[in-house]
Amino acid sequence: MALQTIDVRPVAGALGAEVFGADLSQDLSNRAHDEIHRAFLDHQVLFIRDQTLTPAQHAAFARRFGPLNIYPFVEAIEGEPEIIEIVKEPDDFKNFGGGWHSDSSYLDQPPLGTALYALEAPDIGGDTMYADMYGAYDALSDGMKAMLGGLTGICSAALRASGGRAAGMKKTSAMKAANMDQSDAIVAEHPIVRTHPETGRKALYLNQAHTIHFKDMTEAESRPLIDYLCDHAVRPEFTCRFRWQTGTLALWDNRCTQHFAINDYHGQRRRMHRATIQGDKPV
Ligand code: SIN
Repeated sequence: MALQTIDVRPVAGALGAEVFGADLSQDLSNRAHDEIHRAFLDHQVLFIRDQTLTPAQHAAFARRFGPLNIYPFVEAIEGEPEIIEIVKEPDDFKNFGGGWHSDSSYLDQPPLGTALYALEAPDIGGDTMYADMYGAYDALSDGMKAMLGGLTGICSAALRASGGRAAGMKKTSAMKAANMDQSDAIVAEHPIVRTHPETGRKALYLNQAHTIHFKDMTEAESRPLIDYLCDHAVRPEFTCRFRWQTGTLALWDNRCTQHFAINDYHGQRRRMHRATIQGDKPV
């Protein structure tokens, strides 16, 4: 499809592209939406700078990709039940999302995508890294691919490996935690290799934050292979790194990427609004 409404420029060899020419505060034409959707499938994460969005406009843009879901662990902002505020104050030392993960992979139907909008970006630092889970899968040997084809991952919302969800949230002073006592109970089973429902490509689907073991195996038995695959997936050649500016919106595909919010801006404030788009059950 020749692009008529936007310009798309990749930011790295593996994944990621900047999109120019879109004003997301407007109700996009079907053509403009289709072009952004095509770029989303082709590049897995899009960065769209210089936007001025109300929460309602942000939600309306994200909703063009599907219904939005409710994030269980942070209270929504006033008036927009599907948008949460992610904020790190200058004297907080912990950030939200500071480890490789795919959003909410502990849900039975995890979000297909996330639209994150920067309201206040630090002058320096606070970048987000992304990893290409198609590329990570493609680079594995045929023997490993065959073995992984039979494995199911158990994903938990508890964040036990990083000290627990409630303890982590206490260190982000301005974020409004919710349902912390339920995180242990939210568990889902997903294939370690999933087929993207729109592109038909296979992607690794596990992450250090949420995948705790393989089905029918103990945590101790599972850990070495989980560690190997998670380290492999974030090799530099499978990643890109994005530097935010206030007014940038990033849209990423949780079905074929992971991301990591880098915590290197102590003394500065970073404030984002996040909407997540309902996905289907990974297969
Ligand atoms: C997230 O993990 O959803 C937040 C990423 C970020 O703040 O860069």
